Amino acid sequence: MTKLNSLEKREPAEAANIAEMTDILRRKMERDYEKGDTRRDAHPKTVALLKGSFRIEPDLPRELKVGVFAKPVSHDCWVRFSNSSGKIQSDAVKDARGIAIKLMAPKTKAKNGDVPLGQDFVLLSSPVMPLGTVAMFRDAVYYTIESTPVLMAAKFFMMGKAGALLALLGLRISPDSLLDIRYWSTTPYLFGKQRAVKYSLLPTSKSAGKKTDSNGEDYLAENMQAHLNRHAASFDFCMQMQKDGMPIEDAGVLWDEQESPFIKLATLHIPAQKFRNKERFELAEALSFSPGNALPEHAPLGGLNRARIAIYKALSKFRHQRDSRDNLE
Ligand code: HEM
Repeated sequence: MTKLNSLEKREPAEAANIAEMTDILRRKMERDYEKGDTRRDAHPKTVALLKGSFRIEPDLPRELKVGVFAKPVSHDCWVRFSNSSGKIQSDAVKDARGIAIKLMAPKTKAKNGDVPLGQDFVLLSSPVMPLGTVAMFRDAVYYTIESTPVLMAAKFFMMGKAGALLALLGLRISPDSLLDIRYWSTTPYLFGKQRAVKYSLLPTSKSAGKKTDSNGEDYLAENMQAHLNRHAASFDFCMQMQKDGMPIEDAGVLWDEQESPFIKLATLHIPAQKFRNKERFELAEALSFSPGNALPEHAPLGGLNRARIAIYKALSKFRHQRDSRDNLE
């Protein structure tokens, strides 16, 4: 069981809920995918795996020079864009979208730079995760996979949480391009020793990608490639400090931006590149991104993150072992 930080508090049934979710999702993967082609249980569709650089801001104030952000260096990184639905489906179907960034250690003479630094950032196209606690997430996993969504709706209604299900529907979007939308961590992370923060990525380039009436299955990848054939793309990587009343243990509660504005810490730069090839697809499947891949100064906080550390580790190991693939964490 993960050790708690002083900012955290565990629900009584947390360990059992995490074990149950791991088990249900593992069995679903076995049902859904043939051996040799086992995809992630969530966010299975890779829209793109891109090369990028994560450039720490040069003049951060002293109190923000923490962990990865301590020095104004540039880290090479891998950036995976995904659709969140638990099945591979057309990009034209409304869905929440994800972005995951894996930083590489700075290049030295001894290393060629392709060594993970141990720091990932995993974000979603929504500022909140309406299923904000481990208990709620467990119910959603259990009822949608093992039982029936009607009973889930009834339970959520009786608990006075029907709003979370409606909010969940609202997460599904149909953007022109994944290079032009904003992403949020939804869950909090440590920043140094005592402070908690959430992250957001804000697009700073405008891609030419446009939806059309005849959107194909993979129009998001097509639009992205059309842009990256000739142009770079970029995002501001920002963090928001926790203030009084902003909870750690419920990712369904928005941390108000008016009360605590986002502050830029780095630029995510994505150069022009070709990414629609077999090598990239295979690397995207081999890679594992997790909130658990974090330097101690940026350790994940809160129940959903504790659940994700355990579940991503177990299921990523499972899919890689099942397909006899390398697991690049
Ligand atoms: C307890 C709650 C959650 C569960 C059970 C869950 C489950 C999963 C699983 C099983 C994977 C695939 C892991 C792998 O095989 O490598 C995954 C990936 C992902 N999840 Fe979650 N998730 C949860 C909460 C969240 C939240 C709150 C976010 C918000 C940022 C999120 C965003 C993502 C993204 C972006 C990916 C794709 C990462 C990649 O590109 O490899 N998840 N999730």
